[in-house]
Amino acid sequence: MKAFRGEILRVPHDPATAGADAVRHDPDGLLIVEDGIVAAVGTHADLAPRFPGVPVTPLDGLIVPGFVDCHVHYPQTGRIASHGEQLLQWLERHIFPAEAAFADRAHADETAAFFLDELLRNGTTSALVFATVHEGSVDALFEAALARDMRVTSGKVLMDLGPPGLRDTPASGRAESEALIARWRGRGRLGYAVTPRFALTSSDAQLAETGALLAAHPDAMLHTHLCESHGEIAAVEARFGGDYLGAYERFGLVGPRSVFAHCVHMSDDAFARMAAAGAGIAFCPTSNLFLGSGLFDLAAVDRHGVRTGIGTDVGAGTSFSVLHTLGEAYKVCQLRGCSLDPFRALHLATAGGARVMGIGDHVGGLEPGQEADFAVLDCAATPLLARRTAGASLHDRLFALQVLGDDRAIASTWLRGSRAYSRKEK
Ligand code: GUN
Ligand code: ZN
Repeated sequence: MKAFRGEILRVPHDPATAGADAVRHDPDGLLIVEDGIVAAVGTHADLAPRFPGVPVTPLDGLIVPGFVDCHVHYPQTGRIASHGEQLLQWLERHIFPAEAAFADRAHADETAAFFLDELLRNGTTSALVFATVHEGSVDALFEAALARDMRVTSGKVLMDLGPPGLRDTPASGRAESEALIARWRGRGRLGYAVTPRFALTSSDAQLAETGALLAAHPDAMLHTHLCESHGEIAAVEARFGGDYLGAYERFGLVGPRSVFAHCVHMSDDAFARMAAAGAGIAFCPTSNLFLGSGLFDLAAVDRHGVRTGIGTDVGAGTSFSVLHTLGEAYKVCQLRGCSLDPFRALHLATAGGARVMGIGDHVGGLEPGQEADFAVLDCAATPLLARRTAGASLHDRLFALQVLGDDRAIASTWLRGSRAYSRKEK
């Protein structure tokens, strides 16, 4: 058993629906961890006498649950900040050539290691990750995640209508997905997501196989893109008729295990159908701004009660930092006429995202019984942050971290109670 003493902040329930009660704050808190699991969390004064003799590690900073990145592409790490296009052209010009290189397992291994270390540098402990069409790209990521003990869900990208050299077939996509599920099921903290790239890159036959895969594997997630850019949406509607969500519904892909990145241009009717199905959304503000896709409407999502998490969506996203992504989320909400409260933002980036990923029982709230994945935030990471947060309220400090913070504000990252990253030692 071990214990961590410091200022602990967690938001296990959504303040939008649970009210102020959702925020759990212990200015002098104690986190008791046994075999990587939270045994107790609360004030030092209450807990210290109940756990005498347990070695205590003092942590300087704000202890929060590890961030959950609900949508990110590890093979696009090297193409982040590629200039000048909207979605469909950007994919053709920058992304498909970069993803073709993942036929090479050594390249996949090297990128996966860099990518996961980058997540840890940014306080991210769980992620829902796109690989490429290559089976080996998933093996590379899962091996590296297992070695680090991270919570990673991923899957082979299904795209039989992709460009030459980056295509599978309905049969090979199905067989390779089945093989990966069989190979990785139950190992470490890994999860499998059936991953059609988006409606445009799969034939009807492949989308039907995707639905069959999902039905055959009740422990698998479904991860794809939905309603991101106008050009994409027009092409989907021209091919399938009806709306974009309907193209996925037709093949049984919209349910409680489904995560859709973006959902920027959605009708009320589509949101209502998503809510009824229990599907989740990854809100990816830096990506939507970078590609000029549009402004996510969190107020509309809330009206319909669709579950939402945060995605960095690197490489269209411009940062691995969930803190920075929350700062951009705030600005997008401002432009949509709603104000994203910093406690709600922290919820979306932790417990909310965990629920979207289907891992809410395991992580996200630092609740007793959950895995002790957490990050320590440094409110004085830069001279400006230090100046802005000196003597400030918790709300102001958290908001300053959201607007001004990035990887510099991550003092350390912990996985199941063991230190996985320390800024000091880098
Ligand atoms: N839609 C289909 N593929 C992609 C991708 O790689 N990135 C983004 N942002 N949208 C997509
Ligand atoms: Zn994406």
